[in-house]
Amino acid sequence: MNEPRRKWGWGLIGPGRFAREFASELILNDRARPVAVASRDPTRAREFAADFGFEKSHDSYQALVDDPEVEIVYIVVPHVFHRGIAELAMRAGKAVVCEKPLTVNAAETRTLCELARERGVFLMEAMKTAFLPAIQRARQWIAAGEIGDVKLIRADFCFSGPDDPNDRLMNPKLGGGCVLDVGIYPIFLSHFLGGKICDLKTTGHLTETGVEDTVAISLTHENGACSALTASFQSHESMDAVILGTAGSIQIPKFHTAQTAILNRADGRSEMFEAEDSGMVGAEIEAVMGALDAGHLECPGHPHQRSIRLAELMEMAIHQIQSSKP
Ligand SMILES: NC(=O)c1ccc[n+]([C@@H]2O[C@H](COP(=O)([O-])OP(=O)(O)OC[C@H]3O[C@@H](n4cnc5c(N)ncnc54)[C@H](OP(=O)(O)O)[C@@H]3O)[C@@H](O)[C@H]2O)c1
Repeated sequence: MNEPRRKWGWGLIGPGRFAREFASELILNDRARPVAVASRDPTRAREFAADFGFEKSHDSYQALVDDPEVEIVYIVVPHVFHRGIAELAMRAGKAVVCEKPLTVNAAETRTLCELARERGVFLMEAMKTAFLPAIQRARQWIAAGEIGDVKLIRADFCFSGPDDPNDRLMNPKLGGGCVLDVGIYPIFLSHFLGGKICDLKTTGHLTETGVEDTVAISLTHENGACSALTASFQSHESMDAVILGTAGSIQIPKFHTAQTAILNRADGRSEMFEAEDSGMVGAEIEAVMGALDAGHLECPGHPHQRSIRLAELMEMAIHQIQSSKP
């Protein structure tokens, strides 16, 4: 009989908005032991720990990374702080799962990945979409030739967001802008399903605070396919993707949290894949612990090299918009 697989102790840094979504799924996994929460505000940490059944709270990030019962540190703070806190945790010998984007640029992303290698610790960017069964199924359909050669990928991540200049999305000092926050998802999808990207062209609109609130990104893939991607936090909502091939298409509604993928073959036959409900981050949480069980230092489902490539592409997109402003 197989031994039951071990539990892993999780510590969460940054009990804010998305932390609640993540924690509500973390506690459903019986191999994840919710050990500790840290916040700069002791009351916020204590209340969050009580809400989700974490065993304790810490009033500093250092105390959490030094906690011997915490094995995996999950970082969920504004992007600009990811690098420093991930370094703190890796230097304390912890496995790190850090929210997307891993850092705010390609150089910092490479530095973090190198540090993980040097220290022999696990590091992963929390790109939940990479682990969703519906996205995996779309990739399998493409690999099996179900839609012929991929010619075009269209994907949007647009929604009506904040206009408060102090919100982290609007604030350049907090790594604001739609490319790093949500543009990463269509770029990820295009890279994941369309293969290597050899050219990128971006147009966009900047807010008065100097960050891009709306962008259109065109990508060319080495295999000749093209991608047409959009991201905005100042528009009506659209979060769907479609992959057009020479012999069919795949639709993925709300692709970043996809539960469904629909294959439309050129001969009129359709197939719908519906995931058993594993939520938004359940598969990602399981993949992290599976990688750690196997002794990996990076997660096969979302390796360092992909995080670095995403960071390079986002940096290029932001640079093109910033340098073309009138
Ligand atoms: N995977 C996903 O689907 C998903 C969805 C949404 C967001 N995210 C990512 O999660 C991260 C956090 O986003 P969020 O919307 O949850 O953030 P948030 O609620 O604004 O803040 C989360 C925590 O970050 C710290 N923080 C916030 N503003 C700060 C500031 N000005 N200076 C220093 N620390 C600050 C606070 O920690 P303390 O409690 O210690 O003060 C806060 O509790 C982002 O990187 C974002 O990209 C991922």
